[in-house]
Amino acid sequence: MDHFIYRDGQLWAEECPVAEIAAEVGTPFYLYSTATLLRHYQLFDDALSWGPHLVCYAMKAASNQAILKTLAEAGAGMDVVSGGEYARARAAGVSGDKIVFAGVGKTRGEIRQALEGGIRQFNVESEPEMRAISEIAVALGVEAPVTIRVNPDVDAKTHAKISTGKSENKFGIPIARAREVYAEAAALPGLKIVGIDVHIGSQLTELAPFEAAYKKVAELTPVLRADGHEISRLDMGGGLGIPYTRSNEAPPLPTDYGALIKETVGHLGCEIEIEPGRLIVGNAGILVSRVIYVKDGEGRTFLILDAAMNDLIRPAMYDSHHDIIPVTEAAPGAAHATYDVVGPVCESGDTFAKGREMPAVNEGDLIAFRSAGAYGAVMSSEYNTRPMIPEVLVKGDQSSVIRARPSFDEIINRDTIPEWL
Ligand code: LLP
Repeated sequence: MDHFIYRDGQLWAEECPVAEIAAEVGTPFYLYSTATLLRHYQLFDDALSWGPHLVCYAMKAASNQAILKTLAEAGAGMDVVSGGEYARARAAGVSGDKIVFAGVGKTRGEIRQALEGGIRQFNVESEPEMRAISEIAVALGVEAPVTIRVNPDVDAKTHAKISTGKSENKFGIPIARAREVYAEAAALPGLKIVGIDVHIGSQLTELAPFEAAYKKVAELTPVLRADGHEISRLDMGGGLGIPYTRSNEAPPLPTDYGALIKETVGHLGCEIEIEPGRLIVGNAGILVSRVIYVKDGEGRTFLILDAAMNDLIRPAMYDSHHDIIPVTEAAPGAAHATYDVVGPVCESGDTFAKGREMPAVNEGDLIAFRSAGAYGAVMSSEYNTRPMIPEVLVKGDQSSVIRARPSFDEIINRDTIPEWL
């Protein structure tokens, strides 16, 4: 459920008419709903209310500080994967003890930054990384809390590019070697083992792969404890999928997911952490764009938008589907048309949808991509020197630009012409 609904023939974001925001801000832009963000966070928090837990929002999904602050004030921790994300989370007011540092190649600079600024834990992904964390912690005279990310060799049954839990993927250490790696971690100075981490992929639409992975973690926990390690936290990762179409998709709900965690690892007496990104923000954001032209092609009609692949890369990169709806609701019985929905960028990959049947629209009309909140704005670029598009947040009847559109001068003045040129 989200808060982008038609009312009186117009699309609203909570208590704000989308067309009015478009008139003020210009298109294209991302638009987020506070109520939807908070609702989704709350669903996870409630689903884990059977025990001690922390929902660490995977801020890679959408990292605007206004979004982070909204979630942090509701109690969320953060999952960061870079020094930049760490700095952003801190700037948004998140304290270090609520930040989990994930990612397969943390640099020494990033490790130092997090140890100096405060960190809840590093999710360690390899032995060399573990040694680097140990060295830096010793040099700083601090103790680094760590979990080790185990790779359970489970097929997440999702898109290959976002599947991370198979042995051929670059993530974590093979679960079969966990005892050995934990033993080395325990022997290294400056590290404090606090638990186990697992994450098998993103946009999972079934619980079975989670179950398989979590059962392996449940088996591993007593083994590691018997080896003398303190396993007091289990980080179960993120990855719960969202419905991208209104009609036929029904991925498991956070409450089912929370129940599965309880069933598989609830008896172990650990604090549970999860790192959801997409489910919190995916359906809390839309991308609003304007039709520049409707062009008749050979046996097809192109809807040419002012948004392009640089603004929303997911369809080009993962062949992903986003529902596209007109901002002015089609009247009952109004004509439908079939479009290839494209952007203005000079490559055929700049296609959002092929043969999409939707209500007929005209030049100048506003449309919205649904489910664009996660991995939308954060994956955008300035390809074709197209300015990064604004982000807007609504809360009830209030709406604010939370990232402004840069001017051409701001973009081009970042280049430096060498003196010798
Ligand atoms: N934790 C870790 C270690 C991750 O690698 C990820 C996502 C998450 C948590 C959050 O997963 P989520 O709950 O959002 O599924 N750009 C792609 C998705 C990449 C996901 C990367 N890792 C897309 O647009 O579909």
